Formats: sequence, structure tokens, C-alpha cells
Amino acid sequence: MLKDPSSKYQPFPLIHIPNRQWPSRHLTHAPIWCSVDLRDGNQALAVPMNVSQKLEMFDALVKCGFKEIEVGFPSASNTEFSFNRRLIEEKRIPDDVTIQCLVQAREDLIEKTVESLMGAKQVVIHMYNSTSPAQRKYVFGKTKEEIITVAVKGAQMIKDRLHRLTAGGTKVTLQYSPESFSATEVEFAKEISEAVMDVWQPTPEHKMILNLPDTVEVAMPNVYADQIEWICTNIKNRESLIISLHTHNDRGTGTAATELGLLAGADRVEGTLFGNGERTGNLDIVQVAMNLYMHGIAPGLDFSDMSGLIHMYERTTGMEVPQRHPYSGELVFTAFSGSHQDAIKKGLTGYEEHKSIWDVPYLTIDPNDIGREYREVIRVNSQSGKGGVAYLLESEFGIELPKDMQREFGPLANDIVDKLGREVTAAELKGMFWQEYIERETPFALHHFHADGVDGVFTCRCSLVINGKERGITGTGNGPIAAFAHALIQEGGAPPFEVATYREQSLSSGTEASALAFIQIKTAAGKTIWGAGVDTNIELASIKAILSAVNRAS
Ligand code: KIV
Ligand code: ZN
Repeated sequence: MLKDPSSKYQPFPLIHIPNRQWPSRHLTHAPIWCSVDLRDGNQALAVPMNVSQKLEMFDALVKCGFKEIEVGFPSASNTEFSFNRRLIEEKRIPDDVTIQCLVQAREDLIEKTVESLMGAKQVVIHMYNSTSPAQRKYVFGKTKEEIITVAVKGAQMIKDRLHRLTAGGTKVTLQYSPESFSATEVEFAKEISEAVMDVWQPTPEHKMILNLPDTVEVAMPNVYADQIEWICTNIKNRESLIISLHTHNDRGTGTAATELGLLAGADRVEGTLFGNGERTGNLDIVQVAMNLYMHGIAPGLDFSDMSGLIHMYERTTGMEVPQRHPYSGELVFTAFSGSHQDAIKKGLTGYEEHKSIWDVPYLTIDPNDIGREYREVIRVNSQSGKGGVAYLLESEFGIELPKDMQREFGPLANDIVDKLGREVTAAELKGMFWQEYIERETPFALHHFHADGVDGVFTCRCSLVINGKERGITGTGNGPIAAFAHALIQEGGAPPFEVATYREQSLSSGTEASALAFIQIKTAAGKTIWGAGVDTNIELASIKAILSAVNRAS
């Protein structure tokens, strides 16, 4: 990289708007959406979709609620042409859905495009030519006047062929895009758009779409918003236009540019599912729609089955949705950090009680609204706190660690996970718990245990393996646990301790129901240590829990 990038790159000039309005507006309703997955998205794929993949994607877009779908560039490939024909001839387009086709301002291409659309109920013919200084200079070698002539001639060619469609009852809307609009001088973008309007003669009753693409993001989103507001304020016959946004994501701000562009007065948004498209992609329409939704605005698109939509998208495009992609990524509703997990748990409990406005910390929306679950994505890594560890053991295996024991086991588990240097599964976590508590058999292992009580005094007789040697020990106390503790200290040679806490729970694993006992002992030095034991017999589970704690203390 250059030490002084200003020797090679320059900032984008600001737009002069003395009294800009968009910063103090807010969004109150959804725009008209147009999916360009089957055209802009498709043309950016290493292997473009075949007809059956396009049909599957089309049906999914309709199911989401898109009413305008750019289905392709039918003059550019036979696949795109046959796709249009199948859609129309097999009557696959619902009555309230309009298909849109892209075309350059060239006679042969316009001819083929019109042909591909014959028999459709309603269509948008979308013509574009590029207008920025770099495109004029390097790509076309044309002056501004010559570029306007290209657009005007193309507009006229389309107009001259409209009767072929309208005679068959097709309703046609016309769309013009000054491609590379955001890198074009606003005055020139206005001039060329008005020249096209002069040909097409839109009216408030029969508007045309003026699509203003951020073909390549060259500035911050506020600049794009200024460009949109400037056009909305200065273009003639604004009331005869549907102003449309079409952003890409080169600077990573496609969503922001679209949202600010809507504040600046646009009516319509073009984009793709999950942001598929050239280079860094098109605008991710899901993001803008869900951003509206999380502010309580009905987006008019339905992503209730987000996982199903992702599967369809991955199958048809061969692309993947990144794990941290807003709303749709696999990890979006995952909390790794213990404090986040704790806050979410409390927030979810609070929400369950009141069921009013969603205000759960760290979760922008209720995952259930898009068919996701918070529970299924909890994972444990070295940053997870005791809460995450305890949650996983409880939710996956029904192991309810006492709060104080969570404080002991949480850091132990984190240390192991840290050394592994990766996330662990719930089963691995249970394995760690078993190894740390249940499978402790040195220096003391239980061989046999029996206790009898007479008048509240219990006597236990048991055989232990102590440091590899079998020994019988006896002891008395006011219960089996106390009797065993005395036997262990007085005859087994265990350092003195007292039982501080005892808890038990039932556990059903496989076909056999068993008991899990937790015991906390306090050593003569005042140290507290937990132990746990499992057995089909609850008395034996508690005896094993004592040995587990004593073994851990040794
Ligand atoms: O990004 C773009 O400018 C386009 C146009 C053809 C609308 O895709
Ligand atoms: Zn594009």
C-alpha cells in the first residue's frame, strides 16, 4: 500500500445541497421491492443458473412476496430467452407479479427482448447505458451529447415496438438506468434522464421507473443520499417517476446507502437475496427488509422460513451465506460470551413474562420470527462463561449444576476449551464433566457399600480400593452420608472434611433412569470442593459424590 494514497486516489466531490431534508426524515413504510437475483445476481455466478434452477429461484422469490422480479437479460443468452418463454407459456407468473428484463440501447437486443416477453400479463422493460466520466472516456470514447443520443435512440426503439406487446394485452412499464449514476455528475444524470423522459412521456397515471444505480460504490452513503435528493428535487415531472435505488456493496455500505436513499425520497429498491452480485455483491434486500421489520414496519416480504430460503439460495447459486451475515447468518443468534448469554437468558425470561415489545439484549429480533431458535445455536468456546456451560449441560442432558458448582466447573471447562483452541460440542462438554467429577477413582474407589439405621443412628460397612489396595471400613453417623464420611476420615485415612452442601436430581439417560448427586465438602483449611456421583441407586450416587469430592481434594 502507498504511504501517501492521495498520490493515487482522491475523495469523491460533495453534492451541493443547501437545505438537505433527508437527515431529519425517518422511514415509515416499505418501498416497492424488485429482486434482481435472476439477472444481476445470476450474471455474477461462476456457473450461471440453468433454467430449472432459475425456475426454483423464481418460485421462491414469489413465495417471499416479491411483486417485481428482474428475470434476466433475454437478448444476451438462449437460457435467459427460454426461461422467459417457459415462465410465460407455462403460466408460472402470478397475476400480481411483474417480470422485468434488462436490455442495452441496441436495436437487435431490444427486438429480441420484446420477442421474449410476448404474451406476458405485465412487464418492465429496463434499458440502461453508462454515463460516468470514466465510462464515457475509456469505454465508449463518446462525448456527453453522444451518450445522450445512445439513450434517446434506444428509448425510441423501445417505444416503437411497444404496440407489439400492448396489442396482445401486455401492460408495459418502462425503466431507464443511467448506469454508474453515483459516479456521474448529477447535472448530467438529470439531463440524460430527462432526454429519455421526453421520448417515453411518462405521466402520473402511467409512470416510468428511473433507476439510479450505485453501480460501484465510490463515496459514503450520505453522498448517495444527496445525489438521490438532488435528483428528486431538480428533475422535471417528479410526479411521473418512480425513483428506484440499485446499490452495490464495494465500500461495504450498500444497505446504508439504500436506507439513506429511501430517506432522500426514493420509492423503490432493487437488490438480491443475501447480497449476491458482481464483486462485493448487490444490496442484500433481506437486510433492508428486516431492518424495517425490527423497527415495527411491515416490509411486505416474508422471511419466516429463513433456513429454507438459504438452502434454496445455496442450492441454486452455489454461493454460501456467511455465518455472520446480518439476520441470515448461522451465527447471528449465537452468543459466545458468557455475559451475553446471561443477559439474553434474562431478557428472554422477561419477554416471556410480558410478551410485549421485544427488547432482549443482544438479539435485534426474535429468532422465532424467521424460523430460527436461540437455543439451537448456543455454543461453548473459551470465551463462554459459566452460564453458557451450565445452559448447555442442562438443555442437552438435563444436568442441573448447582449455581456454586457452575462457578467451579465453568473455568475448568474454559481452560480445557482454551487449550483445544476451538469450540466444543455439548457431548464434549459432558465428557469433560464426567472426567472431572464422575470418573475420579483415585486415591479412593468404591467397591461395596451398605448402611443400616437404628433409632436415627446409621452404621455403614463398605469396602474401598485405596491407592490400589482393597480395604474394609466402618463408621457411624446420623445418616448414611455422615456415616460414610466418618468411616472415610477415621478408618480410610482421608483428610478431615465436612459435608457443606448436598443436592440430588434424577437423570434419564437411554432406557435407564439414574440419579445424579452433587456434594460440596469443606476441608479443615476451609476450602470448598465439589464432587458428583451417578448411580441407579440414589444412596450410592451420593456416596460416589463424596468420594469424587475427596478424590478431587487429594
Ligand atoms: O449495477 C448496475 O448499474 C446495474 C444496472 C444495469 C442497473 O446492474
Ligand atoms: Zn447492478
